Amino acid sequence: MKDATTDKVTMYERLLPSVKEIIERPGDRDKKLQRICDLLRREVPYFDWVGFYLTDAEKPDDLVLGPYNGAPTEHVRISVGTGICGRAAHTRRMFVVQDVSKETNYLACSPEVKAEIVLPILVGGDVWGELDIDSHTLAPFSSEDGEFLGKICSLVADLARAGG
Ligand code: SME
Repeated sequence: MKDATTDKVTMYERLLPSVKEIIERPGDRDKKLQRICDLLRREVPYFDWVGFYLTDAEKPDDLVLGPYNGAPTEHVRISVGTGICGRAAHTRRMFVVQDVSKETNYLACSPEVKAEIVLPILVGGDVWGELDIDSHTLAPFSSEDGEFLGKICSLVADLARAGG
């Protein structure tokens, strides 16, 4: 039987090789991160803002906005512990919020955003950065999204480790 889970699995099986190709293709790191954002935003119907926050090397308690695709955000610098991004950095774990209206420690980018998923990118046990996705759909995320995005974060961590 074909259901939403099967559709997601099929979609992500198709997208993962494209992400790997982006990472392996020549180009600087930010260009690759930008291409990943562009691909995910274009291909996943409920991804309405896709971006990377990178840990500030000079001030490791801050995350700085990197490449993204979606509406511009005022949150270009986020302290660890603040908002959904800052809390994911603090716990070093994926943070899924299916309904942002229920969150008190939340930094709103746009009133259209209903849900958010943030995954830390860990290098040597430290948060090198994060992948952050906003959705205009309520409760759109399932374990399939988390697994796929986790694989992307591992690939980006390998790139970071390699000095890319
Ligand atoms: N909502 C995030 C801030 C980043 S924007 O979603 C792009 C948060 O609460 O940390």
